[in-house]
Amino acid sequence: MFSKKTVRDVDVEDKIILVRTDYNVPLVSIEAGELERDPVVVNPAGDQKQQIASDLRIQASLPTIKYLLEHKAAKIILMSHLGRPGGQRDKTLSLRVVAEKLAELLPGVAVNFVDEVSGPEVEMAVEDLPDGGILLLENLRFSPEEEANSEEYAREIVDSTHAELFVQDGFAVVHRAHASTDAITHILPSVAGLLLEKEVKTLTEVAEAPEHPFVVIIGGAKVSDKQPLIDKFLSIADAIYVGGKIAADGYQSDDAKIIVAEDFDEDSTGAKLDIGPVATAKLVELLQPAETVLWNGVLGKVEDTAYATSSTIVAKLLGENQGITSIICGGDTAGFVENLSADEPNLHFSLVSTGGGAALELLSGQALPGVDGLEDL
Ligand code: 3PG
Repeated sequence: MFSKKTVRDVDVEDKIILVRTDYNVPLVSIEAGELERDPVVVNPAGDQKQQIASDLRIQASLPTIKYLLEHKAAKIILMSHLGRPGGQRDKTLSLRVVAEKLAELLPGVAVNFVDEVSGPEVEMAVEDLPDGGILLLENLRFSPEEEANSEEYAREIVDSTHAELFVQDGFAVVHRAHASTDAITHILPSVAGLLLEKEVKTLTEVAEAPEHPFVVIIGGAKVSDKQPLIDKFLSIADAIYVGGKIAADGYQSDDAKIIVAEDFDEDSTGAKLDIGPVATAKLVELLQPAETVLWNGVLGKVEDTAYATSSTIVAKLLGENQGITSIICGGDTAGFVENLSADEPNLHFSLVSTGGGAALELLSGQALPGVDGLEDL
């Protein structure tokens, strides 16, 4: 159940629409990074040339953008943060790279970029934007006012862009109460975008009414991040499987529902870098009858292919079996299945969440300030 208004519930025709996206995409330096797939864009403004290593979040923003274009919004103003520049301008964290990638993904649409978020340059850029055009503003976090949730900062953006409606579509950032997620909703009529709606609906459904048997797979490194998820799902899931570094570091539980990997693949120093064949077989057996699987956290050190075996087996089992509702969340896990899917296009998951922290907070039942401020249905 999603109780907020979305872009479908309001009239967007001929309006200037301000959309919060999450374009906090991973960047790699060209000198150091040897991407296996085609690099996308180069940041000409930065001292270091950079490429976008994963465009998952940019692709995920397209349905809302296309909806607004199809429904004849006058102009679309996009805003986002990138990285954690700490309230200072940092050329290597400019969103210009994202504007270039967007232009590539939206052929025939004018996609412009302005290196400010408000002020006369932005006013001019909005004025110069043709009808049906898109303008991406510079990184919101170049000013400390963004993270300070400043209403004045949000108002300056609205005044400079002449926006008439705010659309929140940056699911990955809605756990933050910032100017572009919270304060802005006190200024403009505010509704959800299609990505936000899809993520919140799917994740809420899995947390509240999953089809059984329901298996939760927990991996990754930090017990403190994952324990709230384990606690939350203990009464909902039929089994919780714990692998990854957490298991390697000795995670223990007396609860019969919690199964912890017991054998590991080790390197020459004895470091446990993937769950072993017995643990993997046990997990596969557990997944066979599953109707719903929530997977958060990779099972091994997947950046080294030698230790990506168990995660690859699980991803293929889920991605090839369309009878299973498969929810993949957490930055590392989403990145892993995304890379695998690029090489194996037959893999399909019900949801690869764009939100790391936001998904964890939603699943463990915490409030999301960026959703709470939107208009109720
Ligand atoms: C994320 O990548 O999880 C979001 O973009 C939020 O970023 P933050 O943790 O820097 O607020």
